[in-house]
Amino acid sequence: MEISDAETIQAAQRCIEPDCARLYGLRDKLLVCPHCGGLLEIVKRVNHAAQELKEMWRARRASNAPRDRSGVWRFRELLPFDEDAPIITLTEGNTPLYDAPRAARFCGLERLELKHQGCNPTGSFKDTGMTVAITQAVRLGARTAICASTGNTAASLAAYAARAGLGCAILVPRGQISLAKLAQTLDYGALVFEVEGNFDDCMRLIQELAAEETVYVVNSINPFRLEGQKTVAIELLEQLDWQVPDHVVLPGGNLGNSSALGKGFFELLALGLIARVPRISVVQAEGAAPFARLFARSQTDERVELVPIAAPQTLATAIKIGAPVSWKKALEVVRRTGGQVISVSEREIAEAKAIIGRDGIGCEPASAAAVAGIKRLVETGFIARASSVIAVLTGHFLKDSDYAINYHRGTLRAPGDKELEGAHRNLPIPVPANKAEILARLDHQTN
Ligand code: F0G
Repeated sequence: MEISDAETIQAAQRCIEPDCARLYGLRDKLLVCPHCGGLLEIVKRVNHAAQELKEMWRARRASNAPRDRSGVWRFRELLPFDEDAPIITLTEGNTPLYDAPRAARFCGLERLELKHQGCNPTGSFKDTGMTVAITQAVRLGARTAICASTGNTAASLAAYAARAGLGCAILVPRGQISLAKLAQTLDYGALVFEVEGNFDDCMRLIQELAAEETVYVVNSINPFRLEGQKTVAIELLEQLDWQVPDHVVLPGGNLGNSSALGKGFFELLALGLIARVPRISVVQAEGAAPFARLFARSQTDERVELVPIAAPQTLATAIKIGAPVSWKKALEVVRRTGGQVISVSEREIAEAKAIIGRDGIGCEPASAAAVAGIKRLVETGFIARASSVIAVLTGHFLKDSDYAINYHRGTLRAPGDKELEGAHRNLPIPVPANKAEILARLDHQTN
């Protein structure tokens, strides 16, 4: 129900359209603004001083209480729930920030750090949002949570719904998601519908299903999801001792994550925890780059609209999306922070992924797009060699081991059946069961 008294409310859902900006209660089950169809965001009044927040969050790292152990709920002063609200958590967040010297050299940087969101409980950044979305689903008394997915949201929803004892149903594009993600989702007990169509068809169906009383949509169009995902900005800054990096670069698909990351940084700025925000840049795959095209047009046209791509193509299936739902929020983030949106080729993604592996880290293909994008942005001069740069790795290596084995075997085929001869291939060596034969080959190892 619409609420009007913005001065006295503590938290609300608000339409992002500037000429609407209507407020709704936190317990209203909404997909978009019922008045104008705009995207919704959460607004919350925070009653703590900057230093107090920093100290409180740090102190919680020594606690064993589940809501303090979670790298999302530890920052609950910025989340739209009461202090003691029952939460559904799998101890998400708390992901490592790795120094990556080989990837830095590959990109032409003095230093590069990788924030590895693939180290979340189900192997992707989705968990940081899902803990909040499922907590909200429980607060609303929902019976079934649903989503469309390229695989990671599916696995995450399935796990958190299982923890909550909630039903869940998932729409995935048939034959277009990695088997590891499908296997996870089945294992967690979700009802999985394989839709004849692509992700954008699944997303359209979800928007139609959202009107049903019994279902609750947890795609990133849901503003509660983004509240969880925004906490990566806080965690990252804590890890950097509140020194703001020059650039943060991440892959973009449906564009929820870019929107959430930006929201996190802007809230910290407004609260006085930081004095500036990093430039946020988004990288897409060439065959699925509606946002990169939109951004290029936005340089000359203030009021651009997204033109969807009907048949997106990329081996980075996580970001094979032609009609991203959150483009308006993400565009605002990139513009306000002075970032860029670019696209990279299948070959650039494949080589970047192999290099990330050589740092002993690894990630799934979509995540590697961020590093491929950084290399490109260094080449164009947008990122200076000595600047501080963070790439957000969104998913774990094991999310798509088929891609990796095909890369190393030389059997990776890009859309259009283009061959991808990897520069960093590493093949297993067949040997007889004989020590001398193995030793002889060890001597030849080059690294
Ligand atoms: N990286 C990975 C590994 C993803 O799974 C996704 C999105 C993205 C990047 C892009 O994030 O959509 O917020 O811009 N995966 C969604 C899914 C679409 O269904 O798992 P985004």
